[in-house]
Amino acid sequence: MFEKKIVRKAIPKDLRSIFLIEEVVFSKEHWTIEMIADELEDIPEKITWVIEQSQNILGYCMVRLFNNEVNIINMAITPSFQGKGLGRLLLGHILNQIPSKSSVFLEVKQGNLSAINLYLSFGFKEIDVRNDYYRDGSDALVMHLEH
Ligand SMILES: CC(C)(COP(=O)(O)OP(=O)(O)OC[C@H]1O[C@@H](n2cnc3c(N)ncnc32)[C@H](O)[C@@H]1OP(=O)(O)O)[C@@H](O)C(=O)NCCC(=O)NCCS
Repeated sequence: MFEKKIVRKAIPKDLRSIFLIEEVVFSKEHWTIEMIADELEDIPEKITWVIEQSQNILGYCMVRLFNNEVNIINMAITPSFQGKGLGRLLLGHILNQIPSKSSVFLEVKQGNLSAINLYLSFGFKEIDVRNDYYRDGSDALVMHLEH
């Protein structure tokens, strides 16, 4: 039977599921469990969203808010569910929750075409490049959306 996918705010008990996805998706560059636990702190400036199906977490997106500025700081879908529309569902849900007149920013590794295409499809524009931004020496594209 078709199981509905749900997008909801993460809670502390989601920590391990999020970490397992982070570890497999980002391999050597993954965040530590402490860094993720920090994002799950219950304060209004930090929100982690998860997408789940049948109580299994399939992806997450971490957002930080500063007044009318929103930063998407991390996002991943578990590998076996990538390319099936979950990233679009998750990001679309988050952008729907953001107050109008917000500026949304994110950084993405140059060459990460699936992520770049996803962001472009929501109207994000490339506004800057940060050289040598990632541990492997790759550059980051800075992308911006006026919401
Ligand atoms: C990037 C990521 C979050 C996208 O989520 P997803 O569920 O795989 O993507 P979706 O199936 O929702 O696809 C949404 C759009 O992304 C783009 N996209 C997804 N997979 C793609 C691929 N393999 N090649 C090119 N574009 C792709 C397309 O624009 C797609 O829209 P379309 O299906 O209408 O063409 C996911 O692939 C992922 O976790 N990647 C590894 C981690 C990562 O790169 N995170 C982002 C860090 S900034």
